[in-house]
Amino acid sequence: MSDERKPFASPACSAHEVDPSYMFAPEMPKDELVALLNVLIESERAGAKTLLAWAREGAPGVDGAFLGEVQRDEARYVAGLAKAVRKLGAEPSGATGRFFDKAMTMTDWQARFAFLDKGQRWVADKVAEMLPRIRDAELRAFLTEMHRGHEVNIARCAEAARAVSH
Ligand SMILES: [Fe+2]
Repeated sequence: MSDERKPFASPACSAHEVDPSYMFAPEMPKDELVALLNVLIESERAGAKTLLAWAREGAPGVDGAFLGEVQRDEARYVAGLAKAVRKLGAEPSGATGRFFDKAMTMTDWQARFAFLDKGQRWVADKVAEMLPRIRDAELRAFLTEMHRGHEVNIARCAEAARAVSH
């Protein structure tokens, strides 16, 4: 086999396939990681509780199952994040983010969807920012899925916000 046919003949050959931030970002220290995962747990719990309340009420003009589906995603992320915190030997936060209290004061569906969009965007960006500094393969896979799930739900919520009657 000639040198150029060897799959990993030199590190430079595959370097272009890797996001440069993954090569230069230092691994996140455990304490910082646990703290951030707990902030995400509180945020996702706030999202899950908010969506549960809103799904029960039902958004006029929006498919009744839709908010419940987003709610289940949020609840699933709480569970996955809690598992990751335990794997790091720490205690998952049992608190709920302040997002929930603010969300419960809102009655207008357009305002609710705008607030939800802002919260989901914050979580998606925070996860994207963390990823280059996560080395654990299982946690990387989970956070990558959580990021993708948020992007999908942000788009679906934008669609629902356009459909909601007010
Ligand atoms: Fe979320």
